[in-house]
Amino acid sequence: MSLKAIDNEIRLQEEEPVRSPEAADSSSSGKAEGSGNAKGLNNAKGLGSANGSEALDGSLSGEDIIELRHIGKEFKTSGGPVTALCDIDLNIKKGEIFGIIGLSGAGKSTLVRCINLLEVPTTGEVIFEGRNIAALPEREQRKARQSMGMIFQQFNLLSQRNVLKNICFPLELAGVPKKQAEARAKELLGLVGLSDRACSYPSQLSGGQKQRVAIARAIATNPKVLLCDEATSALDPDTTKSILELLRRINKEFGITVIVITHEMKVIEAICDRVAIIDQSRIAEVGAVADIFSDPKSKIGRRLILGDAVNNVSFKGSRKVRITFDGRSSMEPVIANMILSLRVPVNFLYASLKDIGGTAFGHMIVQLPEEESDATRALNYLKAQGIKYEEVTEADV
Ligand SMILES: Nc1ncnc2c1ncn2[C@@H]1O[C@H](COP(=O)(O)OP(=O)(O)O)[C@@H](O)[C@H]1O
Ligand SMILES: [Mg+2]
Repeated sequence: MSLKAIDNEIRLQEEEPVRSPEAADSSSSGKAEGSGNAKGLNNAKGLGSANGSEALDGSLSGEDIIELRHIGKEFKTSGGPVTALCDIDLNIKKGEIFGIIGLSGAGKSTLVRCINLLEVPTTGEVIFEGRNIAALPEREQRKARQSMGMIFQQFNLLSQRNVLKNICFPLELAGVPKKQAEARAKELLGLVGLSDRACSYPSQLSGGQKQRVAIARAIATNPKVLLCDEATSALDPDTTKSILELLRRINKEFGITVIVITHEMKVIEAICDRVAIIDQSRIAEVGAVADIFSDPKSKIGRRLILGDAVNNVSFKGSRKVRITFDGRSSMEPVIANMILSLRVPVNFLYASLKDIGGTAFGHMIVQLPEEESDATRALNYLKAQGIKYEEVTEADV
C-alpha cells in the first residue's frame, strides 16, 4: 500500500459518520500524526503549570499553549444548519491534563477537531503558542498542526501494517530514514510496554494493546499536545486505568499537554488537573477538577457528577417510611450507605435522633422514590441491614 493510501486510511478510520464537504476539505492538507521533528524522546519540557497561583477558572499561572477564542462551528446539512459549537472560550496551560466532558452530541469531538483544524471553525480563533493557527503561512500551519498528536476511541491503526510499521508511519511521513524510524519505534514500544509485539498485526491485539500502539504512534514525532477523543471509551475499567496511567506518565515525563475528551466522569477524576463541561455546544463551567467535583454549579455538572438519579427522581405521592433507631444500630450512616450503594435517593422529611456513645436512638421519616423498583430496593436494603422500619402515611409525617 502506498503511503498516500495509508494516510487516507487513517483519515477514513476516524469516527465520523457524516462529513460535510467543508470538513473533508479541512483535513485534506495533513494529519495530526503526520510529520514533525523526530528527535529522541528525551526532550522533556518543563511543566508550565507546576508553580504559581490559582486563577478563577482553577488554572495555575503559566503559559497558555492553546487559547480558544469565541469558537463557533456550524455544519451545513441537507436538513439545514447544525450548530455544533457556540462561543467557546478556553485556555489550556502548557503541561496540564485538561478534560472536556459532556454528553453525547454536546460538541466534544467537534471541539477537539477544531483545535487541530481537522475542522475549520466557522467563527473564532484557535491560538496555539500565541499565534492564530488559521492565519499562519501554510508551512507554519502544518508544523503547528503536526505538534498535536491524536488518539481515538477506535484506535485507527493501519490493519495492513504490523505494530512497528504503524508506529513508523508518521516518522516516514516526516522523512525520517527507515533505520532511525525503526529505532525510535522500538524505543516507543518499550515505553508503552509492548516490546514483544513489534511484529503483531492490529487484529492480533487486545483493545488496550491497540490503544498503546496508537499512543506510541501519536507521540512518535514529539508532539507538544496529545488530543484524546474518548480514548478509553471502548475499554474495560482495568484497561482504562492502565491507559490513563500511561497518559499521565507521558504528560509528566515528556511535558506533553494532554487534552482528554470523555463522557465519563471517572476518567476526568483519574487524571485531569482541570475540566470544562460542555453542554449543547456551549461551555457550562470550567475549573479545577476538585472544585467542580465538590461543588458543581451548572445543571449539567450536577447531573454528570451526582448522577441522573439524583436530579431526575420524582417523589410525588411516593411511599414514606419511619425508620426507628432503637440502640441496636450504630450511628454509622445507614441511610447514606444505602443511597451510595443502591444509588437510590431519598427525601428526609423528619428526624429526631440522639447519638449516645456512638449508638443511635430515635426515628426519622424518609420518602422513597416514586419509581416502585427503587422503593423496593431501598426497603430490601433496610431489611437486610436489620433496621426497623414501617410504612407511614401523610398523616403520620
Ligand atoms: N460533520 C458533521 N456534519 C453535520 N453535523 C455534525 C457533524 N459532526 C458533528 N455534527 C453534529 O454536531 C453536534 C456535536 O457533535 P460531536 O462534536 O460529534 O459531539 P460529541 O463528540 O460530544 O458526541 C451533533 O449534533 C452532531 O450531530
Ligand atoms: Mg464524540
